[in-house]
Amino acid sequence: MAEVLDLDAEVLHTYQADVTAWLADLSDGSPPRRILDLGSGTGTGTFALLERFPEAHATALDVSPQMLHRLRDGACARGLDERVHTVLADLDAPWPSLDPADLAWAASSLHHMADPDHILTEAFRTLRPGGLLAIAEMDFFPRFLSDHLGLGRPGLEARVHAALNEDHGGDLNPALLDAGFTLETKRPFVIDLQHPLPAATGRYAQACLRRLRAHLDGLMDGEDLATLDTLIDSDGPDGVLRRQDLTVRTTRTVWVAKRPQQRPSQ
Ligand SMILES: C[S@@+](CC[C@H](N)C(=O)[O-])C[C@H]1O[C@@H](n2cnc3c(N)ncnc32)[C@H](O)[C@@H]1O
Repeated sequence: MAEVLDLDAEVLHTYQADVTAWLADLSDGSPPRRILDLGSGTGTGTFALLERFPEAHATALDVSPQMLHRLRDGACARGLDERVHTVLADLDAPWPSLDPADLAWAASSLHHMADPDHILTEAFRTLRPGGLLAIAEMDFFPRFLSDHLGLGRPGLEARVHAALNEDHGGDLNPALLDAGFTLETKRPFVIDLQHPLPAATGRYAQACLRRLRAHLDGLMDGEDLATLDTLIDSDGPDGVLRRQDLTVRTTRTVWVAKRPQQRPSQ
């Protein structure tokens, strides 16, 4: 997982730059200084946000010590260690005490949590009045392959995703309102990368397809599985590491909600 997250950030760096620029616009001339990254993983969001907001410090929370270890290494390598604090925490449990934040960011993490309503309630409590919560989720897992690969039967990738019947969650608006937020905006980021692709695209495609392959035994026929095995093989001439016909297509939706300013006392 950690490798896929880092490759995702490397290949989709223009998406990360677009989202953080958009958040800068939404922050209305008062850029966030205290950022929370909820389910930070290896820190892809933490680093992109700290790059966008040079005055900010970030607290990265994750339930996985390995993810946080990798995040700390990444922070040191980027010279960001002074601006990043990591907290090992199960966000499904009561949250540790945290300073009020200006911006909370949760990318591809909410759907991993047992109780998203609890996460939204705790995020609301942890933000300062006027603070923003940004939640990014992928609408569908990235697609890389053309329909006609010159291998096996056409349309393999569509059959892979149909077999897995992925569901990345529905509309968050009602849950955000229930938690007390006001909805600022919701925006799909459509990613459609064509040649020339970032250098890591083959490795990213291989890592993603390998993760899918691990769940496919018994769900697809032998011919399709054999084609997929050929594509994810590191050594063969037809593997995605060497193919010149890859593209990267996916959509991420980002919700931005605000903890309203407190009402003036009466
Ligand atoms: C798909 S990764 C996304 C990581 C990162 N936000 C990114 O976009 O690259 C999901 C992360 O959520 C973390 N996570 C899952 N359940 C969690 C929980 N209950 N509390 C804290 N973190 C959790 C996982 O350990 C993992 O690092």
